[in-house]
Amino acid sequence: MSGRIEGKVALVTGGASGLGEAIVRRFVAEGAKVVIADIDATQGEALAAELGDAASFVRLDVTSEPAWLDALAEAGQRHGHLDVLVNNAGITTLGSIEALSLDGFRNMLDIDLIGVFLGCKHAIPLMKGRNASVINMASMCGIRANADLVGYNAAKAAVTMLTKSVALHYAREGYGMRCNSVHPGATHTPILDKVMAQAPDPQALYAGWVSGHPVGRLGKPEEIAAVCLYLATDESGFATGGEFVVDGGSSL
Ligand SMILES: NC(=O)c1ccc[n+]([C@@H]2O[C@H](COP(=O)([O-])OP(=O)(O)OC[C@H]3O[C@@H](n4cnc5c(N)ncnc54)[C@H](O)[C@@H]3O)[C@@H](O)[C@H]2O)c1
Repeated sequence: MSGRIEGKVALVTGGASGLGEAIVRRFVAEGAKVVIADIDATQGEALAAELGDAASFVRLDVTSEPAWLDALAEAGQRHGHLDVLVNNAGITTLGSIEALSLDGFRNMLDIDLIGVFLGCKHAIPLMKGRNASVINMASMCGIRANADLVGYNAAKAAVTMLTKSVALHYAREGYGMRCNSVHPGATHTPILDKVMAQAPDPQALYAGWVSGHPVGRLGKPEEIAAVCLYLATDESGFATGGEFVVDGGSSL
């Protein structure tokens, strides 16, 4: 099937790499115009150039409120509105409650949580009244705890609940907007390489990820993009405040 989001306009944060890149590619393949918003201009501009007229790049640090306002103004100038926002940008820093510094904790909350808050808040003027969809990238780590992911667990659990509060607000105000969270299990993207680089025994960490997924493998970025595509279509019009778990059974 193709053209499932023909004519829709989407903005994907963290769209230059990994899951964001897979989402951008799938959305473009299904007929959307996509704004790639990322702090990494080199990779983001290269991807936009490869995808041609269907994609554009805007530099965005999701932790900065003025940067959000600028990026959304640019998207508004280019397209007039947004139908889909994917708050996907994120980082993972390993660390237990004793090992993780306060700065490390704050940095993760800034990117993984505050960045989502700012997107859900400031995209409203471009999205309301359009049967629009906000998709927040949480994680199975927002559902199941890990002693060495204290900051990531906290940020992703907060994104899960933020999503539900935002969904209620959008509905109460009659904005015709929906807000859902997506919860991937470990999926092979550059973020996993960055986490492995922080571990004393990267191979043991990787083997633990695989064995922690009852299906016996990690996820593929395309499998996460497929769930985001469903949430971007009008087929998901009755879904709001939901937790879309796609984790190979790892949170069970
Ligand atoms: N890969 C996984 O196993 C997995 C599992 C569950 C959830 N997630 C979540 O999926 C999302 C994407 O992860 P990924 O695996 O694609 O990682 P990735 O490292 O491949 O991509 C993350 C992207 O976010 C961008 N980014 C980082 N900080 C930013 C900032 N301040 N402002 C704007 N952009 C910024 C990076 O430049 C990069 O392009 C994250 O929220 C992550 O927590 C990933």
